Amino acid sequence: MVPHRLSAGLDVGVGFCVYICVRVRVCVCVRRLSKLVFYAGAFQSWMQSLETEPQQFDRVLSSMCTEPHPAARAAAERFLAANPGDPGTYQQVAELEQRAVELLGRVASLSEPAGYITSGGTESNLQALRIARNRSATDDPNVVAPTSVHFSVRKAADVLNLELRTAPTTDHRADPAAMAELVDRDTVCVIGVAGSTEYGAVDPIPAIADLAADADGDPTCHVDAAWGGFHLPFTDHDWSFADAPVDTMTIDPHKAGQAAIPAGGLLVRSPAMLDALAVDTPYLETTSQASLTGTRSGAGVASAAAALAELWPAGYRAAHERAQDNAAWLADALRERGHAVVEPTLPLVAAELPGSTVEQLRERGWRITTTRRGAVRIVCLPHVTRSMLRSFVADLDWF
Ligand SMILES: Cc1ncc(COP(=O)(O)O)c(C=O)c1O
Repeated sequence: MVPHRLSAGLDVGVGFCVYICVRVRVCVCVRRLSKLVFYAGAFQSWMQSLETEPQQFDRVLSSMCTEPHPAARAAAERFLAANPGDPGTYQQVAELEQRAVELLGRVASLSEPAGYITSGGTESNLQALRIARNRSATDDPNVVAPTSVHFSVRKAADVLNLELRTAPTTDHRADPAAMAELVDRDTVCVIGVAGSTEYGAVDPIPAIADLAADADGDPTCHVDAAWGGFHLPFTDHDWSFADAPVDTMTIDPHKAGQAAIPAGGLLVRSPAMLDALAVDTPYLETTSQASLTGTRSGAGVASAAAALAELWPAGYRAAHERAQDNAAWLADALRERGHAVVEPTLPLVAAELPGSTVEQLRERGWRITTTRRGAVRIVCLPHVTRSMLRSFVADLDWF
């Protein structure tokens, strides 16, 4: 028999152990529960972040992209899973790409349209320079461009190991005489910009093409009309394949072409020029590929084809005229308020505003950027309406 006191002691001991066990279990449970609550909360906010609405365009004034046309949006959604990088397997989207290139060729007056829908102007510029480098025999290649050239050319030169030589501009336009001084027998490409990103300037493309034609190293003439290409057909500027012996061109449907991103465009004067880009692709149904990326966006290609089919030429003309009117109105409004304005060649207004005003406008939600020289640049893309510009000017008056 266990003595009474001992048994009481044992009871207390057992009770204490049970108490400790229960407490530990409760603690573990509470900790697990709080972890669960934490993860559930984190999961919920992650899900909510996925449901975040994209930005509105009602205060976006400096972007080179715009809202896609409804036809382009619908086409993009239909072809989300198609891969134009494998045209043998994805034949429908490959046909749409041919159609897009054909229509882009019409925009740029290219008689035998060849090229492809890229991921954007950066890829188009890079591929144009790759063509130029690959068809040349020099082992010390350089490229000559005006200082106004888009920074994507700097990236391309870096990737392709090309020396980029830039010549000063006059009134924001390329100066062919200044460029001529930089051209030598190792020059593989001479670049002109038809619609510069900072000032909307159009370089003298025929003079730049002549520079290429006269150079010893037989360089290509590349025109970067990434944004300007959808405005220039409705102006008197000489910029296209019909206006000069241009070899390659960047012209991006996902800018003023109103296609969904990503839809850039590379055009080449003759289909054979693409051979300089071709690599073997043994495991695909088609065994050669000229594009830079392998798998590509079917959405971008389909949306480019849809936007071009819908808008070329009447829709683009109407968009250009509206944009040019808006640019002229804004330029006048800013001049009346005493700001220096660069006369808009294309629908892009560059104006001198005090830095503090620019900051205040940004704080009020206006998405505006400045050029390297500090001018505010407003790009009149289709989403930029007159009433938007009126409220921008009203905000400006307020400061
Ligand atoms: C003239 C020009 N070229 C090239 C590019 C690069 O295009 P992306 O941003 O589509 O690569 C831009 C972009 O704004 C541009 O304005």
